[in-house]
Amino acid sequence: MPNAYISGTGFFVPPRTVTNDDLVSGYGIDTTNEWIIKRTGIETRRFADEGICPADLAVPAATAAIERAGLSTSDIDMIVFATLSPRYAFPGDGVVLQNLLGLCGEGSRFVPALDVRNQCSGFLYGLSCAASMVQSGGVKHVLLVGAEVHSAGLDLTTRGRTVSALFGDGAGAVVVSATDEDRGVRCWFLGADGRYADHLCQRVWDMRKRPFIPVDEQGRGIVEPESMWAHMEGRLVFKNAVERMVQVLMQACWDQGITDLGDIDLFAFHQANLRINQLVAKMLDIPQDRLLHNIERYGNTTAATIPILLAEAELDGTLKPGMKVACVAFGSGFTWGAAIIDW
Ligand code: ACO
Repeated sequence: MPNAYISGTGFFVPPRTVTNDDLVSGYGIDTTNEWIIKRTGIETRRFADEGICPADLAVPAATAAIERAGLSTSDIDMIVFATLSPRYAFPGDGVVLQNLLGLCGEGSRFVPALDVRNQCSGFLYGLSCAASMVQSGGVKHVLLVGAEVHSAGLDLTTRGRTVSALFGDGAGAVVVSATDEDRGVRCWFLGADGRYADHLCQRVWDMRKRPFIPVDEQGRGIVEPESMWAHMEGRLVFKNAVERMVQVLMQACWDQGITDLGDIDLFAFHQANLRINQLVAKMLDIPQDRLLHNIERYGNTTAATIPILLAEAELDGTLKPGMKVACVAFGSGFTWGAAIIDW
């Protein structure tokens, strides 16, 4: 059975930087730079222009990852695309990216495209699929992408400030490849607790109802603000995030016989709130200099966060071959996951 390793990484964030002060001056939100930094660690985020969807952001990220893997696009056997903000309700952005990358059409292999809907845990759920498929021998190179355009789905008014201050747009990509070398994805653990589905969600429609979106007298769809925008019970999410991240990281370490977290060189934690990650690190005695973070610059980019962290760290030389990396995420569902990778 081959090992599955990350042969290339890439990322792309849209050029428009939105500061906390811009949320006040540009959007009229009743908040302050101090409040957002103190509670979340976020200083800026990136917002894509109108007309851009996650697959658009994914193209440069994927292209960079494929290049860094020393491959060409035609070597890719499969796409796995994680996002909570796809262009269409269906199909997912996997096929949109496939088309943008020219992986369909005359003479192409029409490679499969799998969509992953696990929000902030999406990258790790996707990694488990990609690694398993590579290890099975069924495919050699999987393009795994996490990308989000949150800015279109944020209530950028004072009403929505608890959620809208947190999120930003971006894309990260990795290529998961087969190797006979003794390296790669050593283990992954995933979890979910569906009792909390309603505590962090976007209820744009309800398929139990006829019609699934309320309509006015003319039969035109009407979406009320409370179902249009994300609903989040912040404190509940915070508490569960800390508990589950600690638990799933310990599970992965136990599996790998890691009894001293000092044996892990870098920790790529999902970036929902700097305070969540600081608390997890404090509980487990993880030195701050081993934690990758970019929440101060990008905010929460959901499925894109971990691949962006990995790509940035590889690019600036923080992440080097031979290092042991622990990735951990928690998000809507609730869902969570951890993976240990020998780079
Ligand atoms: N600016 C100013 N005041 C604000 C803002 C803001 N941006 N947002 C909320 N407030 C106010 C609230 O209205 C409230 O005011 P009140 O006391 O007058 O009612 C006060 O600040 C405190 O609000 P809380 O929600 O209790 O603040 P808390 O300290 O819990 O911080 C936060 C809120 C940052 C959202 C925190 O709960 C958090 O980070 N939770 C986890 C979020 C998370 O991990 N989300 C994952 C989503 S990812 C995914 O899977 C989609």
